[in-house]
Amino acid sequence: MADKAALNQWYCLDPLDVIPQGSSQNMLLGQSLDIQRTSQNFAVHANGQPVQHMLGFGHLWATLGRPDTGLPAIAEADEPDRRHVACGGVTVRASGLRIVENFLDMAHFPFVHTDILGSEPHTEVLHYACEIRRDVDEVWATDCKFVQPKAALSATDAIDTRYMYRVARPLVVMLYKTCPSDPDRWDVICLFVQPMAPDLCRAHAMMFLIDNASHQRDLIGFQQVIFLQDRIILENQRPRLLPLEPRLETPTRADASSIAYRRWLKEKGFVYGTTLGPTGA
Ligand SMILES: [Fe+2]
Repeated sequence: MADKAALNQWYCLDPLDVIPQGSSQNMLLGQSLDIQRTSQNFAVHANGQPVQHMLGFGHLWATLGRPDTGLPAIAEADEPDRRHVACGGVTVRASGLRIVENFLDMAHFPFVHTDILGSEPHTEVLHYACEIRRDVDEVWATDCKFVQPKAALSATDAIDTRYMYRVARPLVVMLYKTCPSDPDRWDVICLFVQPMAPDLCRAHAMMFLIDNASHQRDLIGFQQVIFLQDRIILENQRPRLLPLEPRLETPTRADASSIAYRRWLKEKGFVYGTTLGPTGA
């Protein structure tokens, strides 16, 4: 059974354009969901009981609890010249929290995303700032910098990429990164993670980009190549659940953003998908 903190969240289920008309199945926090779609109207049930749901950022969202907030605000999503790119869901045999932590980790770029998001010998993670922002209850990492051979599909040369990370909900994380075609603005890449079981999830990537030139399928393809590289690493991590006992952290993973994220989860009592919560299948 999921803890209260995990139940009282909105979770992304799928991009609207892949949910079939009529009935389909999904899974959330170990519960089977029955989804009925008629045009743009949705009904969601678990064990015959109606499940609260909403549409947001081109996706269907649902909750099995009573969240005291809605979806996080993403101001860039409302800017008229942004491309909205829903990349689709990727199933990963790992805790959803592991996926967020990997998303926050810059140290793996040169080794996992070689010649795309990083390259040797530029392997050093420069100092960055990280904090739990109490006024908004979010984790932020700012002043992140990395030399990237191909920071985005629209990048023609290696650029010194600046990053900001924002963990808005335990399983909703965003990355703001230097936009190759407009240095005064940020490209926004969101990861909406759907916990299906403690050690199984789907990651839905959604991008809000400044890019007039690229084809939609190429933008999706670029992101999918990167995420499939991550999936190999994620599925080989042990334990599959996120360790919340400090002694179980290995020093290389225990960088500032990871430490802040784990502390924030602990404060919330969010243990679903951690070594303190229910075990996986
Ligand atoms: Fe990665």
